[in-house]
Amino acid sequence: MAIQRTFSIIKPDATKRNLTGAINAKLEEAGLRIIAQKRIHMTREKAEGFYEVHKERPFFDELTEFMSSAPVVIQVLEGEDAVAKNRLVMGSTNPEDAEEGTIRKEYALNVGENSVHGSDSAENAEIEIAYFFKDEEIVG
Ligand code: GTP
Ligand code: MG
Repeated sequence: MAIQRTFSIIKPDATKRNLTGAINAKLEEAGLRIIAQKRIHMTREKAEGFYEVHKERPFFDELTEFMSSAPVVIQVLEGEDAVAKNRLVMGSTNPEDAEEGTIRKEYALNVGENSVHGSDSAENAEIEIAYFFKDEEIVG
């Protein structure tokens, strides 16, 4: 598997509890390199655009309200098999199902406030990175 990029968000529940460093320590320990990073407060519209694919889901309003409720840290991660590796370190969407040692097992509060986002494919990673970062903001 080649070197890949993926898109990561440290969500409001985690930034509020000062878990940015603890979460990034886990990502870095797994061999992922943070090659771009910004702390932003998303507007509701920006969150709605990001989660467009979930528009018809019953939790869409709750999700976009939550993601625009407080600052998040958005980042680009690079490494061997980065998309799958990031999702492995994140753990299952619902912390009750997440594996021991994963970010969501240790830090997530519930299925909605689950501390991190990670792209689910290389194609989506590219789209998500471009939604938030200009090329010159990604510095390797
Ligand atoms: P992301 O990396 O954030 O995309 O998580 P995921 O790929 O593990 O989950 P999915 O794409 O299916 O859902 C996107 C996000 O919607 C999840 O991370 C949750 O924050 C939220 N979500 C998913 N299911 C539920 C639910 O049943 N209730 C609520 N409130 N939120 C949900
Ligand atoms: Mg997803």
